[in-house]
Amino acid sequence: MTAPVLPIDDPAARQEGARILREGGLVAFPTETVYGLGADATNETAVAKIFDAKGRPRFNPLISHLADADAAFSLSARSPASKQSSEELAARWWPGPLTMVLERATDAPVAWLASAGLETLALRVPADLATRDFLALVGRPVAAPSANRSGRISPTTAAHVLEELGDRIDLVLDGGPSRVGLESTVVDLSKDQPRLLRHGAVTLEELEAQLGSVALVAAGAAIQAPGMMASHYAPEAALRMDVVEPAPEELFVDFGATREGAAADLSPTGDLLEAAANLFATLRRLDQPGVRSIAVAPIPAQGLGAALRDRLSRACHRES
Ligand code: TXA
Ligand code: MG
Repeated sequence: MTAPVLPIDDPAARQEGARILREGGLVAFPTETVYGLGADATNETAVAKIFDAKGRPRFNPLISHLADADAAFSLSARSPASKQSSEELAARWWPGPLTMVLERATDAPVAWLASAGLETLALRVPADLATRDFLALVGRPVAAPSANRSGRISPTTAAHVLEELGDRIDLVLDGGPSRVGLESTVVDLSKDQPRLLRHGAVTLEELEAQLGSVALVAAGAAIQAPGMMASHYAPEAALRMDVVEPAPEELFVDFGATREGAAADLSPTGDLLEAAANLFATLRRLDQPGVRSIAVAPIPAQGLGAALRDRLSRACHRES
């Protein structure tokens, strides 16, 4: 079945989209940069559906979209310096095509899968009025990567979204062609030195005029490098995967209830969507001081299993 397409300018359509998101569904929506594939960022299972629909072979951290700067900053814990720079950037570019990475507040309700286990959150307030009204109706942060299948170009019309994902999502909100047509600029303000993680409509020169020097990071490379704390959550404990017989001192993370007495089970019924939803929260819960080693049961490589295995194998091969 192909997802219905409704005009985002219709208030009833925005209500319907907000209802679907609050119930854990997937709604593609327009932004000034590209169309986003949205899910309730506070719902681990809904976020797992994003990765399933895109067929992404790995769990990249996602941007949380908010209706306004107050809603965005309420999810963050800012140092005095990052407070000042983020307020300056927000005053100039929010709403607009700029994403800020900030430390997450301890009580921020964003799912760990949405930030790929990181202690930081990527936050963005898109420009379009109808889109922000829609986000306000959702009343929760909305996680959204570009609404295309993995490895394909980002969609800038509702028709593109339908071609890419029409049979995998619940609704497309149509706002016409995206004005910018290029993903947002991503700037990391969570460290002392601001860093540009992705080029976009807001340029390095513009950011430097506002902030002083901004470091350049090859974002793609950094995100993919194993063991890079800055871009991926890395457990302190050693990790083994595809383990059938854990050693006595190992904490065992089961999949599909294969053993008695496991420390956790990513999905007792062997459901990959559930396992994806539980992955980062489970690792974080078990990865406590004093825990030397975690052993994970075999997870099949099909569908979301590929992303689960990718994440676990990075954690196995990290440099310490
Ligand atoms: O224009 C856009 O930004 C579009 C629209 C839909 O808003 N969204 C988008 O999302 O391009 P996505 O998932 O394709 O890109 C998110 C980018 C990635 O480069 C990711 O690595 C980075 O943001 N990112 C997200 N959270 C991060 C974090 N906590 N730390 C560092 N980088 C992060
Ligand atoms: Mg993309």
